[in-house]
Amino acid sequence: MRRSSNPREVRAMESRARRPQMMRGRASPFDEHEKPENLAATRRRIIGYFAREKFFVGGIFAAIVAAIGFDLAVPALQSRAIDVIAGQSSEPFFPVLWLMLGCSVLAGCLGFVRDVLSARIGQRLIGRLRAELFSKIVNLPVGYIDRHSHGDLMSRMTNDIDNISNTVSMALPTLFSGVLTIAGTVSVMLWFSWQLTLVACTTIVLTAISVSLLAGPVRRATRVRQELLGALNGKAEETISSYRTVVAYGQQARMGEEFERVSDQLTHSGVKAETLAGILNPVMNAVSNAGLILIVACGAAFALKGMITVGVIAAFLRYARQFSRPINELAVVWGQLQTAIAGAERVFAILDEASEDGSGRDLRLESSAGIEFKGVTFGYDPKKPVIRDFSLSVPAGGTVALVGATGSGKTTIANLLLRFYDPQQGEIRVGGQNIAEVSRESLRRQMAIVLQDTVLFAGSIRENLSYAREGAGPEDLWHAVRLARCDDLIEMLPGKMDAKITSGGTLSAGERQLLSIARGFVADPRILILDEATSSVDTRTEKAVQEAIREVMSNRTSIVIAHRLSTIRDADLIVVMDAGRIVEQGTHAELMARGGRYRELYDMQFAGLDT
Ligand SMILES: Nc1ncnc2c1ncn2[C@@H]1O[C@H](COP(=O)(O)OP(=O)(O)OP(=O)(O)O)[C@@H](O)[C@H]1O
Ligand SMILES: [Mg+2]
Repeated sequence: MRRSSNPREVRAMESRARRPQMMRGRASPFDEHEKPENLAATRRRIIGYFAREKFFVGGIFAAIVAAIGFDLAVPALQSRAIDVIAGQSSEPFFPVLWLMLGCSVLAGCLGFVRDVLSARIGQRLIGRLRAELFSKIVNLPVGYIDRHSHGDLMSRMTNDIDNISNTVSMALPTLFSGVLTIAGTVSVMLWFSWQLTLVACTTIVLTAISVSLLAGPVRRATRVRQELLGALNGKAEETISSYRTVVAYGQQARMGEEFERVSDQLTHSGVKAETLAGILNPVMNAVSNAGLILIVACGAAFALKGMITVGVIAAFLRYARQFSRPINELAVVWGQLQTAIAGAERVFAILDEASEDGSGRDLRLESSAGIEFKGVTFGYDPKKPVIRDFSLSVPAGGTVALVGATGSGKTTIANLLLRFYDPQQGEIRVGGQNIAEVSRESLRRQMAIVLQDTVLFAGSIRENLSYAREGAGPEDLWHAVRLARCDDLIEMLPGKMDAKITSGGTLSAGERQLLSIARGFVADPRILILDEATSSVDTRTEKAVQEAIREVMSNRTSIVIAHRLSTIRDADLIVVMDAGRIVEQGTHAELMARGGRYRELYDMQFAGLDT
């Protein structure tokens, strides 16, 4: 990916690199997590998605409740078995054992059912969300895409959706069953003996205190590690994406040193974070063992007084352990949930954007149509106009050339004509119809544009050429490539029309331009716009392509934007722009005779050359 110098894009990349990834490594209660901005509203919306999956949600809930029920029954049955052994009960022994086995097996099976259903619901929900997001993104106004970092949009499609998916299929069921397990365990323990329940709960309090004492340092160390990891990822990405420049300036060694420096810091902080986190487990084990001893000691005292049986002590030992596991899990899941909700928030923000307005009647044109700009004023930021009071009349079938300094607004004119943006003042007419009143789709169907930045898609040449007109036959394609002077190139490629090209591409810049011009020809438009479409092509080929354009577009309208004036000499009308205004217009001969800005530009380009 292109490394951007746009500060917003860089910031988005950095924050993406820092964004905690649940898939990365083992999750712990100390992982950093994001805070959603509007928790309540986002949560309500996520619940809305679940509401449409009632069957699955009901199934998962039933499986969780039943599994917990069977899980809780096992220690209770065990206590009965021990009482039989200890002679404190006279019920038959083996049926109790069989029941215990049955409950364990059923709990296991139901756990499996829960996981399968959760995975299903997770994938279904995410599939739906991903489809909604993609169809939204492809229908957003061009202005939205221009204003937002592409990296950030992409990370919403992938990272954020991934996080939500993990949460739905793993974290939510864990949360559910964690809460229910705790509630169930406490109820059963209370039913056996409230005194011993109090003792068991002190264990939990002790664990919670020791965890919270350690939490601060561990969280700080984890944060440092996350930040360094982000920085390291950024370095690696930068080196790979700008590899040519790095090698061309011989900066491999320096990049290596920088990488090593960050890498060393990461190693150091990794060791520290792991060590701190490592202390946690032994401490928690010790505390929980101490708790078990406490239960045994108090339980023995209660049993001696005849308040409980020995079996109950054994059951409590198991319940205490069952109890602390979900507490730990809940702490982990809580963080994941926050991260996922923050991700969902970002996804919803896009879903809430207004799509491009598709209204308006169909634009119908005769075989050729003139274009008229009437007093058009436009600025990407309405306060800073880049096109000012622009009026121009392009006759049907004519070729108009737009020339002028960098940043003078030529591409903006093309943007307005395709209604990527709408002017703040004035109107644009195509074939006599105000384009503000026709639908964007029907307007664009009449036009083909070859952009300043060549865009080819990964796929075969054939797929790329027939992109704009699906029904185009082989003859149409070959005709177009001959006109665009890239037939020789295609003949040489292995597989010819079926040769695969990549979007990054091994074709030269000029070859890519010729292919995109051929694509414009295949579209067979009423209006053709070429924005610096031949800037990387040699002058002779450029002239040939320009002649072809005149031939193909003989009774259609074309707008050609070019810096090289030699190629647009034959245009019907040449328009010289400066700072969003037209400063001169006329034919080549007229403008040369006038001796104004065009003459100046022309003489400059040909200074020292015989023309
Ligand atoms: N999407 C955008 N958002 C904000 N400003 C923009 C956007 N696109 C272009 N501009 C600004 O509008 C002005 C006109 O840009 P435009 O692309 O029309 O120039 P141009 O004449 O095509 O230049 P070039 O010859 O370099 O292609 C420039 O100052 C540019 O910075
Ligand atoms: Mg431009």
